[in-house]
Amino acid sequence: MAVDLSSVSSVDTEPGELPATMAAWVIRQEREGEPTEAFQVEEIEVPEPGAFEVIVRVMAAGVNFNNVWAAFGKPVSVFGYGDHPEYGHHIGGSDASGVVWKVGPGVTRWKPGDEVVIHCNQTSYEDPEVHGLDPMAAPSQKIWGYETTWGSFAQFTKVQAQQLLPKPKHLAWEEAASYGLTYFTAYRMLVRRVNLQAGQKVLIWGAAGGLGVFATQLCKLTGADAVGVVSSDEKGKLVEQLGAVGYINRNEFSGMMRKGGESPDEEKARFKESRAFSKRVKEMLGDAPDIVFEHVGKATFPTSVLTVKTFGKVVICGATSGYQLDFDVRYLWMRQKEILGSHFANAWECNLANALIEESKIRPVLWKTMPFEDVANAHQLMHENKHLGKIAILVGAEGEGEGKTAEGPGAIRAEVGA
Ligand SMILES: NC(=O)c1ccc[n+]([C@@H]2O[C@H](COP(=O)([O-])OP(=O)(O)OC[C@H]3O[C@@H](n4cnc5c(N)ncnc54)[C@H](OP(=O)(O)O)[C@@H]3O)[C@@H](O)[C@H]2O)c1
Repeated sequence: MAVDLSSVSSVDTEPGELPATMAAWVIRQEREGEPTEAFQVEEIEVPEPGAFEVIVRVMAAGVNFNNVWAAFGKPVSVFGYGDHPEYGHHIGGSDASGVVWKVGPGVTRWKPGDEVVIHCNQTSYEDPEVHGLDPMAAPSQKIWGYETTWGSFAQFTKVQAQQLLPKPKHLAWEEAASYGLTYFTAYRMLVRRVNLQAGQKVLIWGAAGGLGVFATQLCKLTGADAVGVVSSDEKGKLVEQLGAVGYINRNEFSGMMRKGGESPDEEKARFKESRAFSKRVKEMLGDAPDIVFEHVGKATFPTSVLTVKTFGKVVICGATSGYQLDFDVRYLWMRQKEILGSHFANAWECNLANALIEESKIRPVLWKTMPFEDVANAHQLMHENKHLGKIAILVGAEGEGEGKTAEGPGAIRAEVGA
């Protein structure tokens, strides 16, 4: 059935009561591929909230790299995970701001009408890890809107009550929807996993990207010096604006990137270029970095291990350029370096990080706000690396700037790019 996209910003029911159906961007297994093909708008039944669940009317959604992966069905199709087998569809979207519309049995902290942002970690209440170790250690742990369906690219989304955070009052809907996934991930990587300290030095790959804009701000707030790597001088200016001491345009060192299958001579040349890059980083920071913030993976990882200081730490949460990593391990053991994996954040960390946004100590960095009909196009732009900072999608909000109920500086606007 054709869905009337002109009415997506209005719903027929009041908080407390759900309409029968909603418009949603849906990926189905048979059309996995380029985002512009994989995502299609469909009319879907609005789900009822189960125990400790909440249905939120989505006012704005945030675009993340995970649903580029979901569109392609790579490295694995999402359809084998979470609740996908039960529903047979993937409604993506792992960031949102919105209004609580209906609460399920057992929910006491939130009520219809509350304005919220949503963090994207889901776990079963019954897993013991949730009650002592860390929800991120639970066997049931899943990323909402990626490993589960009922994400935010729809008029309504179904989440666990523990995913809700108060919406920062000074932010518009699109600003509030833009930061959660990448910011909370960067927060755990730096604050929890490598215990970032004032006075430390940090190298940040993709510093103008979704994770990087927050890693850069967290370094500045903590009193750590950061150098950001970017692929254009325009992106570099943004990174400096966010508090980095400087940036490196990676095109100057394109020979350092690991492609895989290099011959010994090619590897020698690549290594030489990595060394030159490391030297530049050291000159800019005054010393080698204590921490390297990694998510690029295959192309950059050998350089990360080489560049980080003796006893330093490489913290990694992703692998945009490939997940089979190889590097010269002698630089790891002889210099007693550490590699730490990190994945999203727990609800406690999300609440701490969100408070910094409420206090405007960390600010969202918004590149573009796009209408609901552009969900597929937004993912295509991200796939082609034509974006910087974050992209938000208007769903219930009719226009930009709606939803602010207090004064404050709002998002930093990233003004360059495609
Ligand atoms: N595990 C988790 O919880 C988690 C959370 C968030 C993201 N991630 C993953 O982390 C990765 C980055 O996410 P993001 O939201 O920051 O994406 P993003 O907005 O696309 O930013 C990534 C940046 O990496 C740089 N980059 C891309 N390909 C590169 C290459 N071949 N060599 C060097 N730099 C490259 C680009 O910057 P320049 O072109 O300017 O250098 C880009 O801006 C994705 O793979 C994502 O799936 C994981």
